[in-house]
Amino acid sequence: MNNTNTVVPEEVVQRHARPGMSLLAILHAIQDETGFVPPEVVGPLAKALNLSRAEVHGVISYYHHFRTQPAARVTVQLCRAEACRSMGTEALAKHIEARTGCRFDADHSHGDAVGLESVYCLGQCALSPAMMVNDTLHAKVTPEKFDAILAAASQCVEETV
Ligand code: FES
Repeated sequence: MNNTNTVVPEEVVQRHARPGMSLLAILHAIQDETGFVPPEVVGPLAKALNLSRAEVHGVISYYHHFRTQPAARVTVQLCRAEACRSMGTEALAKHIEARTGCRFDADHSHGDAVGLESVYCLGQCALSPAMMVNDTLHAKVTPEKFDAILAAASQCVEETV
């Protein structure tokens, strides 16, 4: 991931918008490079693909995968699908919100220390409740286990900054 302060929208679009590529593929490539899809690329992307700005914006906002601002330093993705719900995910979500002072699925991507996202099934239904923290899967998560996971993830981020 490049330093996001050096993003030049036209250059980013030129690098990724190849003939025959879909808008989705280009958006994935941009996010892979910069860590998010800067709002400034919407205009150049629309022009390159002969779409309206509204069409490009619509695709970005439709897919939860795309971020329009840098991600939080620790991202918690909690499964809130049925199997996990039956094993106490909602109580766990309340604990996580109280512990972090953040809210799930809020606009938490302003460089906050922790971002909370709801996801729906991580393929660990037999080991629920499940969550991903910075792309590492955790199963059978209890409030106590979450506190330890968060502490470890926060420490890991501080060591790499
Ligand atoms: S329902 Fe949570 S991992 Fe499948």
